[in-house]
Amino acid sequence: MEPIEINVKIKRFNPEADSRPYWSDYTLQARPSDRVLDVMHHIKWEVDGSLAFRRSCAHGICGSDAMLINGVNRLACKVLVKDLGNRIVIEPLRGLEVKKDLIVDMDSFFDSFKAVLPFLINDDAPPPAERLQSPEERARFDETTKCILCAACTTSCPVFWTNGSYIGPAAIVNAHRFIFDSRDKGTAQRIDVLNAGNGLWRCRTAYNCTEACPRDIPVTQAIEEVRRAMLFRGA
Ligand code: SF4
Ligand code: F3S
Ligand code: FES
Repeated sequence: MEPIEINVKIKRFNPEADSRPYWSDYTLQARPSDRVLDVMHHIKWEVDGSLAFRRSCAHGICGSDAMLINGVNRLACKVLVKDLGNRIVIEPLRGLEVKKDLIVDMDSFFDSFKAVLPFLINDDAPPPAERLQSPEERARFDETTKCILCAACTTSCPVFWTNGSYIGPAAIVNAHRFIFDSRDKGTAQRIDVLNAGNGLWRCRTAYNCTEACPRDIPVTQAIEEVRRAMLFRGA
């Protein structure tokens, strides 16, 4: 594909040097098949080395390059120039403090993730071989194993925008992954966490989280399943 001219507008902010955010404008050549991450690499490596953003795998697996691209939370490595047109606007994820440019402080996001105890809990004596599980039991939580902790869901949630202490959809997805695992015995502990003031009951079923998820996880459905499990247990 022949290169085309594109205009890229990126929201910039360095809290150590700037009093307020500002926009940088770049006009450059890109192929329609380039990913936004390729465009950002071009800018950083050949135009403006001061631009700051996170990325690692470049293949939609590590979850580190979620950002607001033309108004939608996406992974920069999974969206192509041809799907955006020749004007691209890039901003940091909403609702998290900006550390620099497109790098946001993920600490509170990971604190919520850790709060739901995202690991297998089972103090029963281990069997001689592995803890067995049928294919049907494994399928029960298959979707929620796909989370890459990119934060696209939580930072697209209007409840989270107004209350940064809301535990958020990503944490609930990761609670779902273990609550519906037949080998796990930690559901009561996780429900205690999700039943707290800023827990699952804050969700208003806005569905933004489901639309934002780059792994196509049915996030709102997972939240509803956890909600029903909590009601079943009298939470
Ligand atoms: Fe990202 Fe989807 Fe996981 Fe949310 S549920 S953190 S959007 S992969
Ligand atoms: Fe927010 Fe998703 Fe609930 S966008 S309100 S967590 S359905
Ligand atoms: Fe890893 Fe995009 S760089 S998901």
